[in-house]
Amino acid sequence: MVMKHSRPGLPALALLAAGLTATPALADTLAPHGEILNIAHRGASGHAPEETMPAYDKAVELNADWLELDAQLTADGHLVAFHDESVDRTTNAEGPLSDYTLDELQALDAGTWFNEANPYRADPAFEGVSVPTLKQIVETHGTDQKYYIEIKSPDANPGLTEKLVKFVEKHGLVESDSIVIQSFPQEPLKRVHEMNPDIPLVQLVWYHPKGYEAGAPLKEWKAVTPAPGEITQADLAKIDDYAIGIGTNMHYKDRRVIDEAFVNSVREAGLGLHVYTIDSIAKMHRLIDWGATGIFTNFPDRLSAAHDVR
Ligand code: G3P
Ligand code: CA
Repeated sequence: MVMKHSRPGLPALALLAAGLTATPALADTLAPHGEILNIAHRGASGHAPEETMPAYDKAVELNADWLELDAQLTADGHLVAFHDESVDRTTNAEGPLSDYTLDELQALDAGTWFNEANPYRADPAFEGVSVPTLKQIVETHGTDQKYYIEIKSPDANPGLTEKLVKFVEKHGLVESDSIVIQSFPQEPLKRVHEMNPDIPLVQLVWYHPKGYEAGAPLKEWKAVTPAPGEITQADLAKIDDYAIGIGTNMHYKDRRVIDEAFVNSVREAGLGLHVYTIDSIAKMHRLIDWGATGIFTNFPDRLSAAHDVR
């Protein structure tokens, strides 16, 4: 479900005139006609163990527009959906993900931790659930479903970008307008376009105080942009050269790092603005009112509800 919000968006033709690559997925991805995209962060990961089939099944059931996932590689080179570089937090084992073959990884229990951490949302069906491959997710949900895939920890996953591009091509996700690839570092995104310029890209950014001190000026993690208050149209035009949008945090701890003026600047540059990771309905309302074009949420149902009262 692509939800309409109260602010008009930029007409698609204006975006094209602004120099965006006319990829088939452009309209759906940017939500250019006053819409906001419901992006299920690690699946509906507020309801089920993150990046497992139950989380992706639940996201589809809740009508999320996009299934967000973090692509990494097993020791024997299989693409899997997994966030951390180690298996410690979300499985019953320890150590770097990259030490595990697919068979070893899929023997782990990636669900019981969720039941222990979320007793009010626990479900016995989550016990023993395994880490899925990207192939399992896409073959289950098909090419009508949209996938918002992050190149996660590229330094820990050599060859990931190339494998991911070949995967999305092989599974027909480009032709079906069902893919966005996202990354914090710019280099993997540029590598994607060297291989296939038709794949829509989103540049992730993360703003935090310099030195992580509460009142310090803001900086961007990978120096992709200046601080939000200092960003210019020239800065944004550099991102517009290769990406269709920006994915940003809204807060660093209790400090808000973006504002309505930032949203307006990004949209004026012809870029989509997708904000992670928002589970508060009050914050969803604020972002909808500012004109954000997408929200990553662990609770796609909350975003639907937030939209319904706007
Ligand atoms: O990909 C957007 C958002 O998911 C980035 O943060 O740490 O959840 O991958 P993370
Ligand atoms: Ca992610």
